[in-house]
Amino acid sequence: MKAIRNRLKWPRPLTIDLSKPAHRWRLLIAAVVFVLFGLAIVAGGVQGYSYTESVGFCGTTCHPMGPQLILYQQSPHAKVACTECHVGAGLQPFVQSKIDGSRQLLGMILNNYSRPIKSPVGNLRPARETCEECHTPTSFKDNITKSIKHYDNDQANTLVQTTLILKLGGMNTATGQGKGIHWHISSEVDYIALDPQRQVMAWVGIKQPDGTLKEFFASDIAGMGQKAFVEDARAKGLIRRMDCIDCHNRAAHYIPYPAEAVDGAITNGLISQDLPFIRKRAVDLLNGKYNTEGDALKAIQNLGDSYKSSGIDQAKIDAAVKALDDIYGNTTFPDMNLDWKTNPNNQKHTPTLGCFRCHDGKHVTTNTDGKTETISVQCNLCHTVPIVSRGTETVVEAPVIVGNVPATHTDFSWTITHQTITAADKNECYQCHGQAFCNNGACHNLQHPTNMAFTHPQEVARVGQQVCFTCHQDITCTRCHPGGVSGLTPKP
Ligand code: HEC
Ligand code: HEC
Ligand code: HEC
Ligand code: HEC
Ligand code: HEC
Ligand code: HEC
Ligand code: HEC
Ligand code: HEC
Repeated sequence: MKAIRNRLKWPRPLTIDLSKPAHRWRLLIAAVVFVLFGLAIVAGGVQGYSYTESVGFCGTTCHPMGPQLILYQQSPHAKVACTECHVGAGLQPFVQSKIDGSRQLLGMILNNYSRPIKSPVGNLRPARETCEECHTPTSFKDNITKSIKHYDNDQANTLVQTTLILKLGGMNTATGQGKGIHWHISSEVDYIALDPQRQVMAWVGIKQPDGTLKEFFASDIAGMGQKAFVEDARAKGLIRRMDCIDCHNRAAHYIPYPAEAVDGAITNGLISQDLPFIRKRAVDLLNGKYNTEGDALKAIQNLGDSYKSSGIDQAKIDAAVKALDDIYGNTTFPDMNLDWKTNPNNQKHTPTLGCFRCHDGKHVTTNTDGKTETISVQCNLCHTVPIVSRGTETVVEAPVIVGNVPATHTDFSWTITHQTITAADKNECYQCHGQAFCNNGACHNLQHPTNMAFTHPQEVARVGQQVCFTCHQDITCTRCHPGGVSGLTPKP
């Protein structure tokens, strides 16, 4: 009870001074809270309370949260009530949520809420007390297989299928040790971000088994010898402990990026692959800027009309137009200034930095024997080397994921330089790699000479960008193409 009382000391009746605007606000808010509770009790008794806890109340009564409701209804969490993630169990969070909720209600009445609603949510309850009510850290799986379908920007909209094994990991109950991707939550990983969206990581600290702290600094900061800011941030409470939300920040509210949405629609047969260049044209269209929703829908209709005289079945054209209308409507919310670019998805590294916020090879520490170490960006730290098949190709390959990797492999350039091996060497390779390893659609047929910096535009035209991203991701390309070449990177 004491904790609740402490929380409730706001607003303190004895210190209310109506000549101060801040106090007038508090009184007004308090009045709204009481009226709301009062109405709930009078009108519906207990039912009134539970209505304010329902998905309908959060998502529909509160109009600005409409987009969150639409996205939520399409997510795997569609059956989880808003309050299970946003409020959680217990009396204190319940009371706090009513106070917050009343303030939001007031914002809506006065029409002065922020558009878009800001994310991250400053006072979200710790994930330990919400997400972990359903997902226990000890139940995490070891490895999971992912098959991701993309389509190329060519006339045939060729299928490019990438398969990788994600090293999901989790905590081992017997030893208390964590490994793999979910290692971050079985360990204590703290960080300092320099921006409100937590994209620029200045410092990362990991508590070691012996109680010491292993500290990684962004290399430019480390280079300047500026390290005192950590103590300053600690004193101001700006250090954040990593939890589920630092990666799953779009749980229940994910907006797919245009290429992802179009690829999904082609996979599901909503957009026909028979329409020449439809993948590229649709992605370009959705990436465009429109003054009004009407303009966007008109552009979609024009795209459809341009296929009219091509002899393609009109039903396929109409279906594509409808699919694009739906994608636009479910990913762009102009009155809330919300679309796929608003909030980065931190669970991946495409199209925004996500894991690469820290795993960029640019966060450095000096260990006890004076050696520099970085937070790894090795492609197979988190998943196996992506296996890619294009079009109708068949690639059968069981990726090697256990055992020691030969010393030749530690350098990323091995992916290219191994092309010089002899037939005799190959037998050695087959001790670990299956014979089909070399059929990986991303590698074979690829002309990747050492002067690739000069010849790559032609190579992109020949094999398509999807192939390049198997090995490079946008981080390589954006070094020389700051705006991004893929149409994946949000353009400023
Ligand atoms: C599976 C858990 C979960 C459920 C269910 C859920 N949310 Fe969220 N919500 C989140 C997370 C996680 C965030 C991002 C928090 C952060 O980054 O700090 C968020 C953020 C938000 C935001 C801030 C804006 C934004 O897009 O980030 C709003 C508004 C919101 N949720 C409303 C709702 C409403 C309304 C419902 C029910 C229709 C709901 N949420 C259901 C987990 C959930
Ligand atoms: C009330 C129970 C409940 C709570 C609370 C909850 N989840 Fe879930 N979660 C589920 C269910 C049910 C599924 C769907 C499982 C399935 O499809 O197999 C799911 C699926 C997921 C998935 C896999 C699907 C996806 O979206 O990629 C992730 C990741 C996830 N939850 C993360 C979270 C996070 C992060 C939170 C806290 C913000 C959270 N969950 C809170 C019940 C819950
Ligand atoms: C370092 C980032 C990171 C953190 C922190 C993290 N996760 Fe995950 N989690 C991932 C990734 C990446 C995946 C794989 C997503 C995919 O399938 O594409 C995943 C998958 C999942 C899944 C789906 C598992 C399946 O079998 O498909 C659940 C559920 C989940 N996480 C819950 C949580 C919960 C709960 C927490 C907090 C206790 C958490 N995660 C913390 C990165 C993270
Ligand atoms: C806030 C910074 C940060 C972010 C964001 C982050 N990581 Fe990490 N990760 C770390 C640090 C620090 C280590 C440990 C480095 C060390 O001690 O050498 C680590 C280690 C790992 C490991 C190795 C764990 C083991 O088995 O020992 C994996 C796998 C991993 N991260 C995956 C991911 C994935 C996937 C994402 C994105 C979904 C991600 N990380 C996002 C900081 C981060
Ligand atoms: C810190 C962990 C981590 C590192 C390091 C990492 N990845 Fe990933 N990668 C992920 C996660 C998580 C996903 C998401 C899988 C999913 O979509 O479910 C992913 C997905 C991918 C995909 C599939 C993307 C798509 O949409 O088709 C490719 C290709 C890929 N990674 C390539 C790379 C390459 C190349 C490197 C090295 C430069 C790399 N990755 C390094 C974590 C990592
Ligand atoms: C002792 C076992 C072993 C032998 C022998 C071996 N490899 Fe590997 N190789 C691996 C493992 C393990 C990986 C990482 C696979 C993964 O995570 O998907 C790998 C990855 C690779 C990759 C992808 C590199 C990357 O990470 O980007 C190439 C290319 C490769 N091997 C070529 C070869 C060639 C060519 C030979 C013969 C000269 C060879 N390997 C011999 C175990 C081996
Ligand atoms: C099988 C993996 C793989 C694929 C697929 C691949 N690359 Fe590369 N690429 C590499 C490696 C390894 C290097 C050498 C990088 C290094 O040493 O840092 C490289 C180097 C380059 C460079 C020179 C970068 C520099 O820093 O000078 C460019 C440009 C390039 N690649 C473009 C492309 C393009 C465009 C595609 C698609 C047509 C592509 N690559 C496909 C592995 C790959
Ligand atoms: C070392 C710098 C460098 C890197 C890294 C690089 N490019 Fe380029 N790229 C260039 C230059 C310079 C040109 C212009 C060449 C010309 O006009 O002949 C160019 C031109 C192109 C073009 C044709 C013109 C255009 O902008 O459409 C494509 C496509 C392209 N690059 C794709 C990529 C992709 C994909 C990657 C990443 C895999 C990449 N590039 C990485 C320097 C680079």
